Parts: sequence; structure tokens; C-alpha cells
Amino acid sequence: MKFRSAWSTCALMMGATLALSAAAQNAPAGGGGGGGRANPAEQAIEYRKALFTVLARNWAPIAGVMQGRAEYNAAAVAKNADRVAMLAGIVGEVFPETSKDGNTKAKPEAWTDKAGFAKAVKDMEDSSAALAALVKKDNTNSAAFKAAATKVADSCKGCHDGYRAK
Ligand code: HEC
Repeated sequence: MKFRSAWSTCALMMGATLALSAAAQNAPAGGGGGGGRANPAEQAIEYRKALFTVLARNWAPIAGVMQGRAEYNAAAVAKNADRVAMLAGIVGEVFPETSKDGNTKAKPEAWTDKAGFAKAVKDMEDSSAALAALVKKDNTNSAAFKAAATKVADSCKGCHDGYRAK
């Protein structure tokens, strides 16, 4: 079960990466700043955005349940909670120093406030791991589910408020 969901997340990420490299190759000369191929900073920024796109897509079904907009679907919640926890483990890797400047909404504080930013990353990792662990024990629309999902949502918001430009 664990292997399968890690594998499908991996396949998703590979799809995103392939789409990105195709996009980079098709970019008009000068478009990415590298004469056809995006430069390393732009590639790092594109990769970051792709990660958050996949993360958000997998978070959305859980957010929908949490906010009372969707029915609780145990299989979907379990799958998406695993994926979100897995993808959260990559968040800390997509902010290399080289990706500060460019077509990005990341604020300079993500690099200057190292301790605060590291805490924001850890909040995401911890809260999403806790949610994934919870739904392995109690996969129902419980108060505990709501509380654990709310912590994940707070970790998204906490980081966006501090480190993402509007
Ligand atoms: C540790 C900080 C951090 C955490 C945690 C975080 N984000 Fe973000 N997110 C950012 C930053 C910074 C950007 C801007 C990226 C850029 O423009 O380079 C961003 C961008 C995004 C984007 C836009 C991607 C794009 O294509 O431009 C989405 C969607 C998103 N985040 C969703 C989420 C969701 C959902 C969560 C929680 C499940 C989350 N984020 C958690 C920092 C964070």
C-alpha cells in the first residue's frame, strides 16, 4: 500500500518533470533566459512551482472534506494524505539559494530568515506526517481528522503568509 502510493506519487512527479523539460525545450529563444533552455535559476523555480502544483492538487480533496464541501471518501483521503506527506518531504529541497531571483513569488525572507523558514518547512512535514499516520488508524471524518487536517492547512497558510508574495 505504502509502496504503491509512493510509486504513483513518483510517477506524477516524473510526469511533471517531463512536462517541464518539454516546456523548457519549446520555450522561444531568450524566453527562459538561456536561448531555448531555461537557465538553472528558472529551472529551479519551475520545479518548485511544479511541486506546489502537485502538492495542492493532492491536498485539495482533503481540504474539501475538511471545509465540509465534499463527502469523506476513506480511500481518497488515505491516498491523498500519503501523497501530501511524501511531497512535503521535498518542500525543503526546492528553495536553493540560486532560485531567489526570477519569475517567482518566493519572498527574500525564505532565504534571509533561515530559522523561521526551516520551522515553516518542518511544520508542513510534521503536520502532514501526523495526518497520514492518523488516517491509517482512524480513517473517518472524525474531530481528530478535522484537527489534523487543519494543522496541515495552517502550515500552508503560515508559510505563504510569511514567505510568499501576494
Ligand atoms: C515552507 C513554505 C511553504 C509551504 C509549507 C507551502 N507553500 Fe505553497 N508556496 C510557497 C512559496 C514560497 C510559493 C511561491 C513559489 C514560487 O513562486 O516560486 C508557493 C506556491 C504555491 C502555489 C502556486 C504554485 C505556482 O504554480 O506558482 C500553490 C498552489 C501552493 N503553494 C500551495 C500550497 C499548499 C496547498 C500547501 C500546503 C499543503 C503549501 N503550498 C505549502 C511556500 C510554501
